[in-house]
Amino acid sequence: MTSPRRIIIDTDPGQDDAVAILLALASPEEIDVLGITAVAGNVPLPLTERNARIVCELAGRPDIRVFAGCDAPLKRKLVTAEHVHGKTGLDGPVLQMPEMPLQAVHGVDFIVETLRAEPPGTVTLCPLGPLTNIAAALIRAPEIAGRIREIVLMGGAYFEVGNITPAAEFNIYVDPEAADIVFKCGAPITVMPLDVTHQALVTKPRNEAFRALGTPVGVAVAEMTDFFERFDREKYGSAGAPLHDPCVTAYLLRPDLFAGRHVNVEIETEGRLTTGMTVADWWRVSGRAPNATFMGRLDADGFFELLTERLGRL
Ligand code: RIB
Ligand code: CA
Repeated sequence: MTSPRRIIIDTDPGQDDAVAILLALASPEEIDVLGITAVAGNVPLPLTERNARIVCELAGRPDIRVFAGCDAPLKRKLVTAEHVHGKTGLDGPVLQMPEMPLQAVHGVDFIVETLRAEPPGTVTLCPLGPLTNIAAALIRAPEIAGRIREIVLMGGAYFEVGNITPAAEFNIYVDPEAADIVFKCGAPITVMPLDVTHQALVTKPRNEAFRALGTPVGVAVAEMTDFFERFDREKYGSAGAPLHDPCVTAYLLRPDLFAGRHVNVEIETEGRLTTGMTVADWWRVSGRAPNATFMGRLDADGFFELLTERLGRL
């Protein structure tokens, strides 16, 4: 029995972030959540940090430490996604306002101090939103890059192209300068792009399986995915909402559900039409050194089997 993977979740909840956090908290034997750092993204920071606490309480884990991080990208104006996630960022279910406290320490300080204090190679960072907090931590303490076990992030797109512009995925687009710093930091990086998350569609039967759990968590997840499905159905005509961020947590639990390639990925930060694009050298034509494992395939049935079973434990 290996010891649990110790992680920091960096997040902008967001219904799909919420499901990713629930999946992690439902798996304490495999995942030890050292803390959750909120970042501005889907909705502004006061809402993302509140939503992170709401989700911890929904999971019955008011002991989890939640920190507020950066409230805006490194250099750009914040772009949010209320059109997808609703005004609160967690539209869909009626959820209790949190009673658990927000930690006083800034999220970026928590990331830096944790990586400095823990033995090298023992902490995994799991960014689920714009990479502002991670980049700010690397700027403040560049030496932490060598202490990170792995960065497993949701972001980017290649064959699946963009969702916020024709070329860019939302998390990268919101703070491309931050993404550029992270992808160049030298830590091992595993990327869950739209190329795989668009295979994780919450079809009707899958949504019904959440609801059939009959628990507050199961029903809330069914209501969350019902809500943000409407946007994706109109936009993609897809058979259901893509569960982007839970792909990160599922990878920690069952990496065999995913397949990808170790390639060079660079971030476009100046393109008139392509800013925020993850330029993945999938065919290795650039000669640039590989710096990330970029996922391209998902066993969707296996993913939903894992997710539903684990959510049933909460
Ligand atoms: O493009 C999808 C990503 O943007 C997800 O992380 C979603 O939560 C939003 O942050
Ligand atoms: Ca997110």
